[in-house]
Amino acid sequence: MNNESVNKNFLLAHAKPVLKWAGGKGMLLPEITKHLPAKLKGGAVKRYIEPFVGGGAVFFELAGNYLFKDAYLFDVNPELVILYNVIKNNVEELIAELSVLQQSYNKSPDKKVFYYAVRDEYNRFDKNVEANKHTPDFIRRAALTICLNRTCFNGLFRVNSKGLFNVPVGKYKNPRILDENNLRSVSKALQCATILQTDFETVLSYINPDTFVYYDPPYRPINAGSFNSYAVGDFNDDEQRRLKDTFDKANEAGALQMLSNSDPTNYNPEDMFFDRLYRDYKIHRIWAKRMINSDPDGRNGVRELLITNY
Ligand SMILES: C[S@@+](CC[C@H](N)C(=O)[O-])C[C@H]1O[C@@H](n2cnc3c(N)ncnc32)[C@H](O)[C@@H]1O
Repeated sequence: MNNESVNKNFLLAHAKPVLKWAGGKGMLLPEITKHLPAKLKGGAVKRYIEPFVGGGAVFFELAGNYLFKDAYLFDVNPELVILYNVIKNNVEELIAELSVLQQSYNKSPDKKVFYYAVRDEYNRFDKNVEANKHTPDFIRRAALTICLNRTCFNGLFRVNSKGLFNVPVGKYKNPRILDENNLRSVSKALQCATILQTDFETVLSYINPDTFVYYDPPYRPINAGSFNSYAVGDFNDDEQRRLKDTFDKANEAGALQMLSNSDPTNYNPEDMFFDRLYRDYKIHRIWAKRMINSDPDGRNGVRELLITNY
């Protein structure tokens, strides 16, 4: 290993997502990596933007391999933005808070009682909070987001119409509420990032010629029962078209771009919604090995789309 790669390795943050997140891209990283732009692999991309950051699997993977000068991570979910800003700015205080939560959980004779007490406290936080105005007062809130994610049913994040978190308790033997080494790596990865609660169109304010944007919107449901409600309000076909307008504008501004979505042709070979919408770009069909309950053939995966402008 030469000096340069030693130094680079020292600077890179080898972090994993902190949260389990619906639509998390952990399983698809090999395919996503394969389709990254050559300019990024060559080190010429200085800015990374991810406007639907969720659990951040792609950002953390890239931050472990490439040095960005800056990154912009957006999501409409205020709890994610609060959490990532706390990890960025107050990681040691967060670790201390989680350590107490981990101990109380371990000692608690009834895990269900513990869980619902934490959930009640969480639901007393102000729902109209200005998530973008970071304050250390958010440390407890961020700790509870992690604690609930580790102990709730399936690691789901779901709120009702009043914004109250309503996921029931999960069944875990030994949930890991505190993973301090990973939190420190995540904090390191986030040092170059500006994290905002905002709509995806905000990307247009941050594009420069050295930018790579990765979009992972809520997937277009491939069947009526699919889950794509991450916050109040749905991401319907009009939203998918609005996203395509943003993709066009960012393309004109010179960004390299990649976008993920579901492939409607899995279930209806005539449904060319995305093939038509993104006909001016490259559409790659990739194989996603994941369990889909409604999979009629009992196959263990589906095709998904990766759309690129390069
Ligand atoms: C498929 S998830 C992203 C998953 C992420 N790539 C991962 O690996 O965990 C989609 C995310 O988009 C967010 N979202 C929904 N509508 C949005 C909008 N209009 N602008 C920005 N983010 C939005 C949701 O809150 C959710 O976190």
